[in-house]
Amino acid sequence: MGYKTLCFGLSCIIYAYYISAPMPENIEEPWKVGVLDALIKMTSVTAILFENIGLIRHEELFFTLMKMDFTKPVSDENITVTDTTFMDIPVRLYLPKWKSKRQRPAVIFLHGGAFVLGSCKQTPYDVLNRFTANKLDAVVVGVDYRLSPQYHFPIPFEDTISVVKFFLQDEILAKYGVDPTRICITGDSSGGTLAASVTQLLRNDPEFKNKIKAQALIYPGLQGADTFVPSHQEYERGPILSRDMTIKFGCLYLTKDQDLPQAMKKNQHMPQGSRHLFKFVNWSILLPEKYRKNHVYTEPILGNLNSSYPELMDSRISPLLVDDSQLQNLPLTYIVTCEHDVLRDDALMYVTRLQNVGVKVAHDHMEDGIHGAVSFMASPLYLKLGIRIKNKYMNWLEENL
Ligand SMILES: *[C@@H]1O[C@H](CO)[C@@H](O)[C@H](O)[C@H]1NC(C)=O
Ligand SMILES: *[C@@H]1O[C@H](CO)[C@@H](O)[C@H](O)[C@H]1NC(C)=O
Ligand SMILES: *[C@@H]1O[C@H](CO)[C@@H](O)[C@H](O)[C@H]1NC(C)=O
Repeated sequence: MGYKTLCFGLSCIIYAYYISAPMPENIEEPWKVGVLDALIKMTSVTAILFENIGLIRHEELFFTLMKMDFTKPVSDENITVTDTTFMDIPVRLYLPKWKSKRQRPAVIFLHGGAFVLGSCKQTPYDVLNRFTANKLDAVVVGVDYRLSPQYHFPIPFEDTISVVKFFLQDEILAKYGVDPTRICITGDSSGGTLAASVTQLLRNDPEFKNKIKAQALIYPGLQGADTFVPSHQEYERGPILSRDMTIKFGCLYLTKDQDLPQAMKKNQHMPQGSRHLFKFVNWSILLPEKYRKNHVYTEPILGNLNSSYPELMDSRISPLLVDDSQLQNLPLTYIVTCEHDVLRDDALMYVTRLQNVGVKVAHDHMEDGIHGAVSFMASPLYLKLGIRIKNKYMNWLEENL
């Protein structure tokens, strides 16, 4: 028995070593990142196996595991935490307890998870939002928009917009003592996609234009038009987020059909008539030289899919796919990018485009960064990198909100 267990343990370690990504040299706590990376990939392989034998869908296994980490709304000495709904959509509210002489700022937080996974109730997000409320004396709203594949695009986006518009009403802001001139929309990863597109929509809407002071985007995904950007090529195997996983989950936002991810892996998924959009994600112009290196730009190939997905041209999915006139109204922006991240170049291109039209952008690039670090900010396997990103984000909010 002991012998078998030992053999099993050893094969797991060898297997984990085999599937885990090559670790970049400058990474902090490489063994922890290695363990996390191997755990995610082992879960993924298991999930694909289960899916193939018809047991459970790939993303359901991830979601089931993640659910074990959902927290209850627990108030503490400083903050009252409650779960409620805005427009029938679940939200978690963090309200400072002490009396304030003036109105408070507010942060609307949109969690990551590729539109398929996650919740603002997960421990790391609960920790982050509680910390924000405490540190900034702010009202924080975590939004649990509905998820794909059960609810495809545009439902997660529309849920988010409904919650934000509901919250921005004068009587609601007054009810929570929020200063209407000090509101920030924040999101990480796919939550950053939502934050960017919601901000674009509201800042170009005269009714809401003046109500969003700032946006904060933490390693956001900002386009699905070109999947051969340099970061997709360099970090194809991760760490943490592989290109395959990005595409697999990302496609579920639109469809369960397998043709789409297959075409997307070859960068042949964009519909006929979308060529005019490629200039908005032309990394050979929009990426700083340092990241272009010796990669050679090739244009995505059009219309190689039997079923066409016009949504792929929609800026609510790919906030980079708008022209400059829709960018120039954007508010003060904070962006975190991570070097070792498949999504890195999306946000780097957004930084360039925003700066080109004169939007004020504060940009922190984590040279040793990996995707999702903020989700590894609470035990057991917390990363110092996650805390560093949290502190930078918090400093920016303190100075700018
Ligand atoms: C409550 O606020 C005080 C003062 O900022 C701080 O020292 C304390 O750690 C906070 N408590 C919790 C549970 O965060
Ligand atoms: C992308 O930029 C290159 C210049 O680096 C240019 O030759 C090419 O035509 C551009 N392609 C598109 C689709 O914008
Ligand atoms: C499109 O459909 C045709 C006929 O059903 C099939 O032969 C072809 O391989 C399909 N093409 C792609 C790119 O899926």
